[in-house]
Amino acid sequence: MTASNGTQGQEKPWGEFVTVDIEEGIAWITLNRPDKRNAINPGIVYEMVAVLDAMEEDDEVKVLVVTGAGDAFSAGQDLKEYFRIPDAGPPLARERLYRANAAWQWRRMMNFPKPTIAMVNGWCFGGAFQVLIGCDLAVAADDATFGLSEINWGIIPAGIVTKSVAEVMSQRDALYYIMTGETFDGKRAKELGLVNISVPREELRERTRTLANTLKEKNPYVLRSAKTAYHHVKSMSWDAALDYLMAKSDQTKFRDPEKGDQAGMKQFLDDKSYRPGLQTYKRES
Ligand code: ACO
Repeated sequence: MTASNGTQGQEKPWGEFVTVDIEEGIAWITLNRPDKRNAINPGIVYEMVAVLDAMEEDDEVKVLVVTGAGDAFSAGQDLKEYFRIPDAGPPLARERLYRANAAWQWRRMMNFPKPTIAMVNGWCFGGAFQVLIGCDLAVAADDATFGLSEINWGIIPAGIVTKSVAEVMSQRDALYYIMTGETFDGKRAKELGLVNISVPREELRERTRTLANTLKEKNPYVLRSAKTAYHHVKSMSWDAALDYLMAKSDQTKFRDPEKGDQAGMKQFLDDKSYRPGLQTYKRES
């Protein structure tokens, strides 16, 4: 394990509100304000911006796992430090904070060039849904508690939360939880399509690690293209999607440093050494 918080031998612009442990290619990124249930304050926002930049550049890092310290994933945006204080301060500073928050929770997370997994270990409210949905995949503890609690204190799920929720939940379910603020557990989150897997708490870390290891085995360049393509085609017409996907596929084959398609075809058709339906081709590295 790299006990460092990412890049080595230099002062890192995180470590107070966000910690990073790199272990066998997996960066375990922990929102670290357990006494405040990891409510997202400006410290988390700006440290996460720096963490994501560093994790992108760090070749040792293959997969990101985002989780929370203590008994919370995150209690959402910090009502005091993210709302009350900035609301009363200079408008430009508030706008900068909101921009930085959207930058990591949405733009950077959803388009991150490496696979990302949310490991929901406990309370997950409001703005934390954006972090959750911003990750490619999600694993929850059965007894984690989720809630779109904004309605309970008189705001709408803003930032980009309502948009995110609409992407992954049905209209009936999204409006039900937006309008009632009712909480639900990890098992229900799985039924709603909000997480991929829900497991007993004691299995959470190992199940997440197994999933991360599966992703680590895949060709990283192709993984990156696959998720980029998924996000783009959602809003395209069928004709445009066909054209884009063929072009993206050609680009991926052309740019892929390990020429995975060639290796896969050779190993299946010539060497008869593996079955693509059942496993990944044997990669050099
Ligand atoms: N913003 C600011 N502070 C928070 C937040 C938050 N979102 N969540 C928790 N805290 C703080 C509390 O004020 C408290 O601080 P203190 O010790 O200085 O008094 C500390 O964290 C612990 O909170 P408790 O309520 O005592 O913890 P408990 O475990 O009993 O309850 C729970 C946890 C259910 C998460 C509760 O704290 C809560 O309801 N938090 C707000 C959740 C919420 O509505 N989030 C959505 C925000 S809106 C948005 O994200 C857009």
